[in-house]
Amino acid sequence: MDTKDKKIWGNSPKALNLLNQALQLEYSLIFYYPRLASAIEDKEARNLVLKLGSDSIKHADVVASAIQELGGTPLWSFEPFPEGIDLIKIFQVQLEKEKLALQLHLKNAGLAPAGSLRNRFENMAKEEESHIQIVKNILSNQRVAL
Ligand SMILES: [Fe+2]
Repeated sequence: MDTKDKKIWGNSPKALNLLNQALQLEYSLIFYYPRLASAIEDKEARNLVLKLGSDSIKHADVVASAIQELGGTPLWSFEPFPEGIDLIKIFQVQLEKEKLALQLHLKNAGLAPAGSLRNRFENMAKEEESHIQIVKNILSNQRVAL
């Protein structure tokens, strides 16, 4: 990203806020998927859930790098894994988070100057579409050990 682009994007009041929202969302996905995976009996579904977790780690890296390039500080927090709530409900919340991640990556792609970083956000948005489908499939097959 050249300095001019960085200045334009970095000065957008929404940019860092949106990026940090995306980062926190990816972190909340990261923290839940491994535990969800360990509760799933079906091997294929379990591997898909682990992939969702590792993709979310890569996404968090991209978002955190963008924040640093803009001179911001990556902020993160995590929610403790809910106890006593059934796994289907947790997957339903994960589905909403994946949908929100898609919207945030698209918004960030729209704000980013044309170039490799914009492409990375567009690619992450495409991956979120497949994540949404994976979570929907898991929910519709109900291949979740309760
Ligand atoms: Fe995702």
